[in-house]
Amino acid sequence: MKTIADLGDLRGRRVLVRSDLNVPLDDAGAITDDGRVRASVPTLQELSSQGARVIVCAHLGRPKGKPDQKYSLQPVATRLAELLGQPVAFATDTVGESARAAVGALEDGQVLLLENLRFNAGETAPTAEERREFAEQLAGLADAFVSDGFGVVHREQASVFDIARLLPAAAGGLVRTEVEVMKRLTEDPARPYAVVLGGAKVSDKLGVIDNLLAKADRLLIGGGMVFTFLRAQGHEVGRSLLEEDQVEAVRGYLRTAEETGVEIVLPTDIVAATEFSAEADHDVVPADEIPPDRLGLDIGPDSARLFAEKLADARTVFWNGPMGAFEMEPYAAGTRAVARALVDITAAHDALTVVGGGDSAAAVRQFGHSDDEFGHISTGGGASLEFLEGATLPGLEVLED
Ligand code: 3PG
Repeated sequence: MKTIADLGDLRGRRVLVRSDLNVPLDDAGAITDDGRVRASVPTLQELSSQGARVIVCAHLGRPKGKPDQKYSLQPVATRLAELLGQPVAFATDTVGESARAAVGALEDGQVLLLENLRFNAGETAPTAEERREFAEQLAGLADAFVSDGFGVVHREQASVFDIARLLPAAAGGLVRTEVEVMKRLTEDPARPYAVVLGGAKVSDKLGVIDNLLAKADRLLIGGGMVFTFLRAQGHEVGRSLLEEDQVEAVRGYLRTAEETGVEIVLPTDIVAATEFSAEADHDVVPADEIPPDRLGLDIGPDSARLFAEKLADARTVFWNGPMGAFEMEPYAAGTRAVARALVDITAAHDALTVVGGGDSAAAVRQFGHSDDEFGHISTGGGASLEFLEGATLPGLEVLED
């Protein structure tokens, strides 16, 4: 993989950087977790200090191929400027008049952010043919390309994949660091190797579970996906989230785990509520006795203790997905306990603890942890999962060409 140094002298050259600035915004449009913006800063600073004219491009959310102000990157430009400690110009389009004028006005070392790439249908179009024009227009803005959005390298999209074939291209520092960490998780991890999976859907995690059953020593399951596991064991789950069409696949995983000696750890108790609301009545119930009118919104206190125990001697941990609806305080304890356990083992025996996925990363910050209490907080959700699945990631593959 080429590095920024391989691009040669960048002074005065226009460098297009693909970052992942896909951050959560609240209803008022304020950024609620700026982790990805912060992670993008070192590469931008490196380029700017070398005198490059830095053109940052990124997406926010999933607008439908046309401008939609609710997904504007403007608030991100403001935050980026604060973090960089220098002004960040903002183009109100991606490859149109505003972008061209802003690029033309850039001086050495200055930084510009283009509007949301996904305001153009060409960005995410399914075929290279349909993406070509947009990729060429983007390429026309710059002299070189730096891929630094690890969170999007699993997407075969114009600004991630096609552009790398149109300009001299290199991986930025963030992509390189993330890839190194992912390799440590997949190639000969220190053992015991525990993986904690949560989040809403089993179907999002099928590939990774499949692959980890051959690699990890323990798989701890929480979050909404746990109810499909409990159902696969024959338990009633009340009104909890359930993917009935995945029950059979999960039964298969439980069988494989038994055969291969991988320990699957499921919660023994659940916080079950009458509604998906912080104000709803809620109680701790045994995981195999969820009342028919209740829905599970967190793992219970016994499970939190059990999970912490199962993590205590781990030398490598990958965690993706919260244990419950942590945004609501009554259902945050399970996720908080996993975060605490990871912090403890990082400090105690320098375990490699990796937190992947926007929700888990947002959760640890919400609980007041700093990034350096963990081995690594990945900016990639889907990208890190696909890496661990063993999938080929187009945005990385193209950098090898
Ligand atoms: C993410 O949030 O995982 C990345 O920014 C990719 O976003 P996407 O899933 O909408 O492609």
